[in-house]
Amino acid sequence: MLNVVLFGPPGSGKGTQSAKLIEKYGLIHLSTGDILRAELAAQTELGKEAKRYMDKGELVPDRVVIGMIGRKLDENGKVNGFIFDGFPRTTSQAEALDSLLKDKNTSITLMVALEVPHEELVKRLLNRGKESGRADDQNAEVIENRIRVYHRETAPVIHYYEAQHKFFPVNGVGSIDDIFQRLCEVIDKHK
Ligand code: AP5
Ligand code: MG
Repeated sequence: MLNVVLFGPPGSGKGTQSAKLIEKYGLIHLSTGDILRAELAAQTELGKEAKRYMDKGELVPDRVVIGMIGRKLDENGKVNGFIFDGFPRTTSQAEALDSLLKDKNTSITLMVALEVPHEELVKRLLNRGKESGRADDQNAEVIENRIRVYHRETAPVIHYYEAQHKFFPVNGVGSIDDIFQRLCEVIDKHK
């Protein structure tokens, strides 16, 4: 299996690049943000709980997202592999993911991390906020908080994969196609 963690701060292009990668490599896209937004739209209990955190740009508790990913892995039986987008976001989530994959006799192949400067992230998210309807894109303070939370709670996950020699940074600035080529080069070399 090819199991890729597509990593990066809010607005770095994880969702955009995932759509292209799943097509090229025949993978299943698991975005915890997308799953949470679907729960929210369906007004489930889980969605209502998650909304309290998402609207402020804070992380939803580990137990909630880990449970969600566990169920999604079970739903998808025999597949070529997964792209994990926006997960893991804490070291506890990374440990839980390793253990869930181990139960399925597989593991993370590599983590590719999109690197994009702060001002570019803010520009992209405010721009998307004009039409996305995403509550967390509407407000500059919430966007800044999402980036702060990324540096404080999520960036340390890099060390977790670095220790396993699975961390590969990629320049996330440029055209969508150029960035896609950079990602494919790294994946092809290490798959
Ligand atoms: P999530 O949905 O994961 O959002 P995010 O990480 O904040 O990032 P985005 O989805 O906004 O950005 P992206 O990197 O996917 O970029 P995109 O391709 O969209 O999480 C939302 C919330 O859910 C979290 O704050 C948290 O509350 C909760 N949550 C989710 N997962 C969780 C977890 N594991 N644990 C706990 N809580 C969790 O691109 C952004 C914009 O830029 C788009 O408009 C796009 O068109 C544009 N763009 C893309 N590429 C380029 C380019 N090359 N040049 C110019 N513009 C570009
Ligand atoms: Mg996304």
